[in-house]
Amino acid sequence: MSPTFRPLHPLYAAEASPLDLRSVEDAATLAAIRQGMHEHAVLVFHDQRLDDASQLAFAQRLDGALHSKTGISAMTGNRFGNEALTDISNLDEAGEVLPADDRRRQYGLANRLWHTDASFVEPPGRYSLLSARAIAPDAPPTEFADMRAAWDDLDPARKALLEPLQAHHSIAYSRQVLGFEFSAEEAEKLKGVVQPLVRTNPVTGRKALYLASHVSRILGWSLPEGRLLLLDLMEHATQSRYVYSHQWRAGDLVIWDNLQTMHRARPFDDTHQKRDLRRVTTLAVPPGAALNAAGHTAHPGG
Ligand code: OGA
Ligand code: MN
Repeated sequence: MSPTFRPLHPLYAAEASPLDLRSVEDAATLAAIRQGMHEHAVLVFHDQRLDDASQLAFAQRLDGALHSKTGISAMTGNRFGNEALTDISNLDEAGEVLPADDRRRQYGLANRLWHTDASFVEPPGRYSLLSARAIAPDAPPTEFADMRAAWDDLDPARKALLEPLQAHHSIAYSRQVLGFEFSAEEAEKLKGVVQPLVRTNPVTGRKALYLASHVSRILGWSLPEGRLLLLDLMEHATQSRYVYSHQWRAGDLVIWDNLQTMHRARPFDDTHQKRDLRRVTTLAVPPGAALNAAGHTAHPGG
C-alpha cells in the first residue's frame, strides 16, 4: 500500500505512515517515496528494523548509486568495513564513546555547521538516509533548513543577482573554519568542486539555494565579497521559520534531499552519552545515469 505523508512543519518535512522499508521493493511504493521527497524534502520513517545491509539495499532501491567515503573513513577506514556506510556515531570499534581528543570526533564536530552532504564532490549527494540505531534519552535533535522557501522569499533583484552564480565547495574549507588540520597529503585529495548557487528540482520546478559551510568562495568575486554574501545568505536561510528540528527515536530513518535542504547536528554530552547513527548518501546523477556512476568512488570527505 502506498504511504501517506503527514506534515511536520508548515513549509516542509513529513512523517510517513507505518511501513517496513526492508520489504519496500515495488515500483509504485518507491515512486511514491521519491515523489514525497520531491515535495517534502525531508521524510521521517519511524520504527524501522534496518541493519547495515538492509539500509544500504533500500538506499539503492530508492535512488540507484551510492556515495562512498563521505566521512573521515576515507582517511582512516571505518568500523563497518563498507565505505558507503558513513559512521555518524560517537563510538569506537569496541562500541565505547570516543575520547574528546580523538581525531574522528574532532573531524565529526564540523557536522554541527550548517551543510549539505557531499556537495564538495562531483556528482554531489542527493538523498541522505540516516538511521538511528541507539539514541540516549536526552540526545539532541538534528536541524534542517528549507532552501526552497529561503529562495522563494528573496526579492526579485536578489534572485537575479544570485541565479547565475557558481560557488566552490571544499570539505577542507569547512574543517579549517573550525581549526581542524589536514596533512598535506590529505589536503591534496580535497581540492573541492564548483557547484551552482541555485538549483531547480526537475520534478516540482522549485528552485533552492545550494549552500553549505563547505562553500569557500563565489567564482568571479573577491574572497571578502563572496564570503560576506555567503554569510548573509546563510543567516537568511537558517532563520527559525525555515528550520525543522527532528527529535530522534531509536528506529527512525530520516531521509533528506541534500539539493533542497541544509542540516546540522547539535551539541550534547557526547564524551559520555552514546549516540549511534549510520548514514547512506546517494549520488545526484540523472535517472538512468546511475548504472554508469555505480562504479564511481567518491573522493574523501564528510
Ligand atoms: C549527517 C549529519 C547530523 C547529526 O549524518 O550527515 O550531518 O545530527 N548528521 O548527526
Ligand atoms: Mn551531514
